[in-house]
Amino acid sequence: MDFVTYSILIQVLLIGVSQSFLVSTDGCMAPPPSSNFTNARYYGLWYEVGKIQTAGGGYFEKDCVCTTIGVTPKSGATNGDATAFNSCRKLSPTGEFLNATGALTGEVVPGHWKEGFFFLAPKADYTVIYLDDNYAIEYDCTSAFFMTNYCIHLLSRKPTADAAAVKMLLDFANSLQLNTQKLTYQATMQSGCWS
Ligand SMILES: *[C@@H]1O[C@H](CO)[C@@H](O)[C@H](O)[C@H]1NC(C)=O
Ligand SMILES: *[C@@H]1O[C@H](CO)[C@@H](O)[C@H](O)[C@H]1NC(C)=O
Repeated sequence: MDFVTYSILIQVLLIGVSQSFLVSTDGCMAPPPSSNFTNARYYGLWYEVGKIQTAGGGYFEKDCVCTTIGVTPKSGATNGDATAFNSCRKLSPTGEFLNATGALTGEVVPGHWKEGFFFLAPKADYTVIYLDDNYAIEYDCTSAFFMTNYCIHLLSRKPTADAAAVKMLLDFANSLQLNTQKLTYQATMQSGCWS
């Protein structure tokens, strides 16, 4: 195990220990994937326009601006295995890149995968709950170390989304009661990133 992996693991454990005293285990929700979902429709580059995220679930992303997710089928796979390449900049559009590659596996139902970042970390349930030509909502959740961490990502094909679209997406996520810890929506800074 290399040093970076080791230190991430220690951080995950410490967050787990500290949070388990503060947050009861709500458990993960199990929303259905979008009825619009097809893998082909979800592939490609998405800009994160905002998110609702627990502190532990957001640990790797807490300093992120200019966040994107690129979803590509794993080459040669016929079982839906794919890669979610997460990329962002630290604190400002010129900050260092913080990139992480997630492996999407076990797609038994289209639009629902397990997402793993490295071999020891618990895998998240990863579900695309909304999908149209311009927007998507992805819900991921992990219950491990006596705590639940989740993130609801609002994704757009363009770096921006109009306010009405964001409201529609948030209303949809809220209708599924995914925000079990009543956390605040945070818009993701995308201005100045792609001039
Ligand atoms: C991170 O990903 C971006 C693409 O989003 C790429 O341009 C950059 O070179 C990557 N940086 C590192 C350090 O991996
Ligand atoms: C499916 O996509 C269409 C547009 O392509 C959109 O109007 C509709 O709301 C979507 N339905 C669901 C259930 O996501």
